Amino acid sequence: MYPIQRNRRLRSSASLRALVQEFSLSPNDFIVPLFVIEGNQIKEEIPSMPGYFRMSTDHLSKQVKTLWSLGLKSVLLFVKVPDALKDNLGTEALNPEGLMQRAIKTVKEAVPEMVVMTDVALDPYSSFGHDGIVEGGKIVNDSTVKVLSKMALSHAQAGADVVAPSDMMDGRILNIRKELEAANFTETVIMSYSAKYASAFYGPFRDALDSAPGFGDKKTYQMDFRNRKEALIETQRDLEEGADIVMVKPGLAYLDIIRDLREEVAAPIAAYQVSGEYAMLKAAAEKGWLDHDQIMLEQLLSFKRAGASLIASYFAEEAVKLI
Ligand code: PBG
Repeated sequence: MYPIQRNRRLRSSASLRALVQEFSLSPNDFIVPLFVIEGNQIKEEIPSMPGYFRMSTDHLSKQVKTLWSLGLKSVLLFVKVPDALKDNLGTEALNPEGLMQRAIKTVKEAVPEMVVMTDVALDPYSSFGHDGIVEGGKIVNDSTVKVLSKMALSHAQAGADVVAPSDMMDGRILNIRKELEAANFTETVIMSYSAKYASAFYGPFRDALDSAPGFGDKKTYQMDFRNRKEALIETQRDLEEGADIVMVKPGLAYLDIIRDLREEVAAPIAAYQVSGEYAMLKAAAEKGWLDHDQIMLEQLLSFKRAGASLIASYFAEEAVKLI
């Protein structure tokens, strides 16, 4: 009771505050998403993601060396597939010489210790821009899961350490796990986008990959943002099916979900601070309305405080330079 207790005592100097701080950010926390495109010497800025680029594999090689030198230890690869290679079945996703498979090898050659994570979903390969195969206007589950399993195996064969299914089909984790085990990829980690909501925050990402759905939306497979308990069901099922790391996505508007999961499951939880979150801060900072660096660090720390042990973020490189 006041004045025996004064809450301000432990805040009275920067050193004291540092001694009693509960959470901190470190380069070990981050997963760096990277967008890869075909070609040579290409590094093009994504209009709705200022300061973020699509790059060809020669630039990718340089970029991962830079990231490694900053202490960053993992990258999450996404590819922009030329329209001519897109079809309903996502056939190109299984090409052993495809862009993703080459990108994986590029990173492993540049920095062998870098943890290579890959996005497993059909949308960048789909002529419909959906995460699964379309039949009669619907996104069909079970035949999609078969393709995703082969896709994950193909990434593992190319050298991926972690496969990250972002599609939200039912049973994909179990099928991917079985496919990997059968091929003796017993150490391949599955990071499941377990609680992934149907969100308007993904807009800039879909610009980056030209992967917006051609019809309808993703609400029959991604989660309804009005729901909370469903995130736990999804996550527990994915863990039972063989996921090693689970994920909540988007990030900032879903900190409650991260906290719920932190209290219920023991596995590492990743938060994905998505493209729309990046775009909002860049836009506000451009207008001079917010202090970019301070807000960036405040938002990133909030993921740790909510209970995430990993943060996928387009701010990773900028943030580690400040911490
Ligand atoms: C693909 C995928 C998406 C994102 C990650 N993987 C888009 C989507 O589901 O429509 C979004 C990432 C971001 O917005 O930063 N399934």
